[in-house]
Amino acid sequence: MQTSVLSTQDTRSIAAGAQLIRAGGLAAFPTETVYGLGANGLDGAAVDRIFEAKGRPNDNPLILHVARKEDAFPLWAGEPPFAHALMDTFWPGPLTLIYYKSDVVPKEVTAGLSTVAVRMPDNDAARALIAASGVPVAAPSANLSGKPSPTTAQHVLQDMDGRIPLILDGGPCRYGVESTVLSLVGTPTILRPGAVTPEMLAAVLGEVALAPSILAPLAQGETAASPGMKYKHYAPNAQVLVVVGEAEAAAQRLSSLYDDLTARGKRVAVAATAEALPFYGDRRTALLGTRKDPTTLCSRLFALLRELDGSSDVILSEGVGTAGTGLAFMNRLLRSAGFRVEYL
Ligand code: TXA
Ligand code: MG
Repeated sequence: MQTSVLSTQDTRSIAAGAQLIRAGGLAAFPTETVYGLGANGLDGAAVDRIFEAKGRPNDNPLILHVARKEDAFPLWAGEPPFAHALMDTFWPGPLTLIYYKSDVVPKEVTAGLSTVAVRMPDNDAARALIAASGVPVAAPSANLSGKPSPTTAQHVLQDMDGRIPLILDGGPCRYGVESTVLSLVGTPTILRPGAVTPEMLAAVLGEVALAPSILAPLAQGETAASPGMKYKHYAPNAQVLVVVGEAEAAAQRLSSLYDDLTARGKRVAVAATAEALPFYGDRRTALLGTRKDPTTLCSRLFALLRELDGSSDVILSEGVGTAGTGLAFMNRLLRSAGFRVEYL
């Protein structure tokens, strides 16, 4: 299969994507978080093609994307608690809401669960594509299962060339990590952290719980509230090792690891924050962003893991605190490292 990459600037490319989706096919598209791989979310056979193209285990449910707030309600069985307040504050935007599904949602979308995840992306091309498709668009991140999520059309092409007919190119994604996933079944609970932080949600909900698997591997026999949490995730081919600590101390520890690994013949690179960069001397570093704003770390993480992957056996990375979007950054970074982490 030939894969075309077309700019979202050209409205004909949006129409071509919508036509593919209406016909039961696939199209990759930009959102404000990461690129998605879309199909008609009301057509079980079309949704199956997403799992096939990604090599994704089919017990991992998908998010339905809508172009307007009112299009979310028919997908749920009744009105989720706090739905209006949350949508008014955060939609369009990087917040996915989970509640009991209605009968229009096929089992292929929810992997047989009784709940469905819905979000309205804050990206004009994404909403134009969904509106032109005329259906809710089921879309996971447009990477091969297990790989870092794509934040540019080139990343999608690396993973999906020959596997899908169309990639809509809207440039780099603003946030670079996937949406916050919030379950509204029972106590509102964050299943996956994102750019909408626990602090921001608590301001609307009063209180919000965090799923225990956010910063720790699942214990033996524990079931994941969000099936996606149980899989190896965001992992480049290189091994990732994380050190969490103040800038200078982290840089000293990582420099010593770097020197040991290099002496053993490994190709090593450091993912560094701006604050620690001066402490690495002439070791090979790549800039993540600034500790003052973890949003900058989030937006570079996946792109940087992909960039360093081919040329490194080991990627050493600084970790930071979990306030604000630091939680989303650490959630993704620790998974990409298979939880190999040292706290100073
Ligand atoms: O930002 C995003 O959310 C991106 C863009 C494309 O919108 N999409 C995305 O989809 O990250 P995906 O499939 O890579 O991640 C969806 C996550 C998975 O961890 C999945 O297990 C969880 O949401 N999920 C989906 N439906 C669920 C449900 N009914 N109950 C619990 N978890 C659910
Ligand atoms: Mg994903």
